[in-house]
Amino acid sequence: MKDFSKHKAELLKDLTLEEKSALCRGVTLFETGGCPRFGIPPLRMSDGPHGVREELQKDRFVSAGRTDDASTYFCTLLALASTWNPNLAYRMGQCLGQEARARGKDILLGPGVNIIRTPLCGRNFEYFSEDPFLTSSFVVPYIIGVQEQGVGACVKHFALNNQELNRKRVNVEVSERALREIYLPAFEAAVREAGVIGVMGAYNRFRGDYCCHNSYLLRKILREEWGFRGVVISDWDGVHDAEGAILAGLDIEMGTGCDEGLSFSEYYYAKHLRHAVEQGKLPISCMDEKVQNVLSVYERIGIFEPNRPKGRMNAAKHRQVAREIAREAIVLLKNERSVLPLRKDRLKRLLIIGDNAIRRHANGGGSSRLKTPYEVTPLEGILSFLGADVEVEWIPGYVATPEPTGTTTSIPLGRTLSPVESLAQALEKAKFADGVIYIGGLNHDFDREGSDRTDMNLPYDQDLLLSELLRVRPDMVVVLIAGSPVDLSAWIDSCSTLLWTCYGGMEGGHALTEVLFGVVNPCGKLPLTFPRKLSDSPAHALGEYPGKETVHYREGILVGYRYFDRAGVVPSFPFGHGLSYSTFSYSSPKVYWEAGKTGITLYVNCTVTNTGNYNGAETIQVYLSDKNGKVFKPEKELKGFFKMFLKAGESKQVSIGIPYREFRYYDEDRECWNIQSGSYELLIGSSSRDIRLTIPFDIPPR
Ligand code: BGC
Repeated sequence: MKDFSKHKAELLKDLTLEEKSALCRGVTLFETGGCPRFGIPPLRMSDGPHGVREELQKDRFVSAGRTDDASTYFCTLLALASTWNPNLAYRMGQCLGQEARARGKDILLGPGVNIIRTPLCGRNFEYFSEDPFLTSSFVVPYIIGVQEQGVGACVKHFALNNQELNRKRVNVEVSERALREIYLPAFEAAVREAGVIGVMGAYNRFRGDYCCHNSYLLRKILREEWGFRGVVISDWDGVHDAEGAILAGLDIEMGTGCDEGLSFSEYYYAKHLRHAVEQGKLPISCMDEKVQNVLSVYERIGIFEPNRPKGRMNAAKHRQVAREIAREAIVLLKNERSVLPLRKDRLKRLLIIGDNAIRRHANGGGSSRLKTPYEVTPLEGILSFLGADVEVEWIPGYVATPEPTGTTTSIPLGRTLSPVESLAQALEKAKFADGVIYIGGLNHDFDREGSDRTDMNLPYDQDLLLSELLRVRPDMVVVLIAGSPVDLSAWIDSCSTLLWTCYGGMEGGHALTEVLFGVVNPCGKLPLTFPRKLSDSPAHALGEYPGKETVHYREGILVGYRYFDRAGVVPSFPFGHGLSYSTFSYSSPKVYWEAGKTGITLYVNCTVTNTGNYNGAETIQVYLSDKNGKVFKPEKELKGFFKMFLKAGESKQVSIGIPYREFRYYDEDRECWNIQSGSYELLIGSSSRDIRLTIPFDIPPR
């Protein structure tokens, strides 16, 4: 369409109420109506965050049964954040944008940026971190990558959707300070720094109003303060009446009554809107603002541009990126006996135990589930790496619920054993193998949308199995694949070798194998805290989960490591922890201010040396600690990080810039951001609890 922007102003005058409504609501599960009379196509949307979802029927969450809609399955966002490498977020975003285009999509429903408040939340695997700075660092490049491809990203779920239990009703009460410092920064970065095109309103309520009807969130903060110029899309079934949503600033209504089979013409922005206008409750112009916002999306993604990117599906390059991310996402938590990396030439018989060695995860988790051309399981990865030289045997060890339909396993499983038989078999076989690798954890029966876990324990009696196995094989390598922290206390003291990774995508099995056998040196770091027990984590320690009608976030700004530090509670593994097969030393710290075009920045320099025998990468983390004691602050807060590759023996200097605005806190009395002058320290470390250098500095009074 020529001169769409000129045409846009005219359109508003010519469109009927019905036409305005169709531009602003779903007429199928994932498409708006567009406006055929003026040649405006529908906006086509798709989940999701780590791959483009398969085509569904127009009015039901049931597969459309197509054969051309399998897509690259990247690792989930918690795994992406474990890489601490934002460049990978950009590359993943680019690939996702290309796949979305190739599938004819206009808006990709992701990324999910809700802060991980409780280890139990069923969607933790879909979110990045418990830390707002780390989350923001990933969200921005991801969105830029997607949107460069002529597709709008849709950051979700705005806001405070931090539990799945009761998600459609629960009301969140949180202090303004915690809202601003913890729960909103990633959304703000998505808007201001990445220019995100879509924001999805969450299901839950906030201070009494549903998020899709919440003018404080949608008008005051999003549009007035942050200058958002895109569209607010409801979560599917997140709208509850026409007036509330329209007046509060919601632009597009999707998924209303989808579970009850409500027809699209019964949507609030359809039937109810018409009634409200007929009864004089709303003027016909009430939709103009929304139509304008929607039409601006067409422009920004270049729907009418002849050179809009066409995209490509399942490119070899995409699989390569998926593999690189999966490698860097693996976190080595413990390697006390240097069992890892395993040496192929020292193994004759390798025993692999556990359901996650053979399980495929793509097809689970809820709306982020994917149809993928293949998914390499850990066992397949190991078998293909070892070839015929090593005898590999897999046994279940524990009895897990079967995989969702649609996934198949290529391993002959033999007769199904009872839990007791499985345990006995594992103990017996473990004695005679040269090496034993346990690959267990959670799966999408636990990490999934719509419900939370009921406790932090490993399911299927894995604690018993692990305790028993580690008695006979203290050298056993334990690999946990899980989208949330789990309680390790039953066996962690007797475990010398532990790896954790969130769902690794279609190349996950190869990536894990490469790390186990030292082809790749692990370099992931935890994007969240692993508490020793559930009651150690803030929301649970304070009894503020899951709430009844209302959940009070009484821990305030003390979320994740901020709480563990302040309360003096030692976690199993702290935020930012992750080992390498090598070791790194830190020296020669220096800080200095520098004025640039975008304001003043504090630079932190130091030298990092790879003091071990393996080439590898280290993530240097910089935390801020306020020494003034005048304003209540967390003991430390992440303000910068940089991942650096170093050959064995090599030294390099790193320089990390912290913009002045990062020193601010939200001042509730004055209802604005403020910076406290006085003494501070920068803590440079390899994790939040492995601080190697401390540098004092001052912020001068203004
Ligand atoms: C989820 C969203 C998702 C939407 C569409 C909702 O249930 O909360 O994240 O994008 O469904 O599938």
